[in-house]
Amino acid sequence: MVVALSQEKFTDQLKALIDAYDRSEVDDTFYAPEEIQKSIPLAIEDEPLPQPELLDVLKAIIIRTPKSASPGFYNQLYGGKEDLAIIAEMMVARMNNSMYTFKVAGPHILIEHEVIKKACEVIGFVEGEGVFCPGGSMANLVGMVLARNACNPDIQDHGLDRNTYVAYTSERGHYSIKKNAGMLGIGRNNVREVAVNDRGEMLVEEFDRLVQLDLAAGLTPFFVNLTAGTTVLGAFDDVSRISEIARKYNIWVHVDGAYGASVLLSRKRAALLAGIDRADSVTWNAHKMMGVPLTCSMLLCKAKGLLTQNFSEVSDYLFQTDTDELNPGTKSMQCGRKNDAFKVWALWKQLGNKGFEQRIEKQFLLRDKLVALINSDPDFELFMPPALLNVCFRYRQVDSDRICYALDRQGLGKVGHGSFRGDNFIRMVMVNPSLGVEDIEKFLGHIKMVARNLKES
Ligand SMILES: Cc1ncc(COP(=O)(O)O)c(C=O)c1O
Repeated sequence: MVVALSQEKFTDQLKALIDAYDRSEVDDTFYAPEEIQKSIPLAIEDEPLPQPELLDVLKAIIIRTPKSASPGFYNQLYGGKEDLAIIAEMMVARMNNSMYTFKVAGPHILIEHEVIKKACEVIGFVEGEGVFCPGGSMANLVGMVLARNACNPDIQDHGLDRNTYVAYTSERGHYSIKKNAGMLGIGRNNVREVAVNDRGEMLVEEFDRLVQLDLAAGLTPFFVNLTAGTTVLGAFDDVSRISEIARKYNIWVHVDGAYGASVLLSRKRAALLAGIDRADSVTWNAHKMMGVPLTCSMLLCKAKGLLTQNFSEVSDYLFQTDTDELNPGTKSMQCGRKNDAFKVWALWKQLGNKGFEQRIEKQFLLRDKLVALINSDPDFELFMPPALLNVCFRYRQVDSDRICYALDRQGLGKVGHGSFRGDNFIRMVMVNPSLGVEDIEKFLGHIKMVARNLKES
């Protein structure tokens, strides 16, 4: 049975669903799993569900979905909404092209080239190349594969040898580094978590010391991950100094800029990433600070040709026309691949470099306003001055995790908590460029109300 809608019906139904979303966009009501199970028929049955009923089910799901564009959403490193990027993403689904060959994706291959070229230019990779990946964790995985195979090119064909390969990341780096080491046969235990300073940045001398110890023990250091914007504190590792040390030992330098690479679009803030052009590879998520819908991640590398060398396989049934350059399936760990370039390209065209620069400045200014509000209120205590858009603070004498939980359950908004050296705090992420001062004032008011109630209970 083919269930095709007329064009009119398609447009009407899409509009009805978007309206349902828009009506509930600022609603932070918490819906428990039991309530969702009870009020929505989720089970897939033998009998088809007629269209009008199905539409109501879809609306009920949309209404109960946490709203990442709400002014009460500070929970993750993404948030907000960009209309044109959303339209592009919807059209990607409607057009349904896989990004392996020019034959089936046409102009989208050239669009992907443009975005990658632009990102390389911003980083300072003069002859660079890149590939879109399904998320920053996977982009980090690609970086690690390139590093491992650069260290020992035999591994690609023959598998791991008897060497113990060692990777380094700071103790505040993203968990994907360890997970990827586990998946690649490096071993999670062969990832050194280098200690950090009081701001959460990798200790440069400590990295050097650990490498020397590993070399003395006969191990093979091959990869260092430098985080540009750590997940909790937003800290930036010192790319310039650590790259210099890594070069001495022939260690691949990967910058995990999943969160923070976007500051390169601001001339005022780009210094946070000074030296990034010395890296061998960079992860950059446009779905975080750039506000593009999930997922939109790039792995960019300095040397052209490495991606093809590492990820190309002979496939007569797929690569039948054009060159490898026009067939990016030869550079990707995926075969079928969704088009994630279109939405970021559309938004970048719309805003231009200048628009993004202004937008990043707006995000930083709002962050500074939040810091000022916290500092001026004796009930609050700033945990540390923020490096990026994460503002970490406490309400005095009340557990931060209890506050976050209560806010969520009472439908007052979503924010997460983090910890550093045993201290717990609330982490408010200020990535949504549509937020205003009144939104953060209102949210701080909610935190105070909830905290006072908890104190009294
Ligand atoms: C520093 C850092 N790297 C990598 C990732 C993983 O990115 P993704 O969620 O797109 O896999 C995150 C996610 O928050 C992150 O904060």
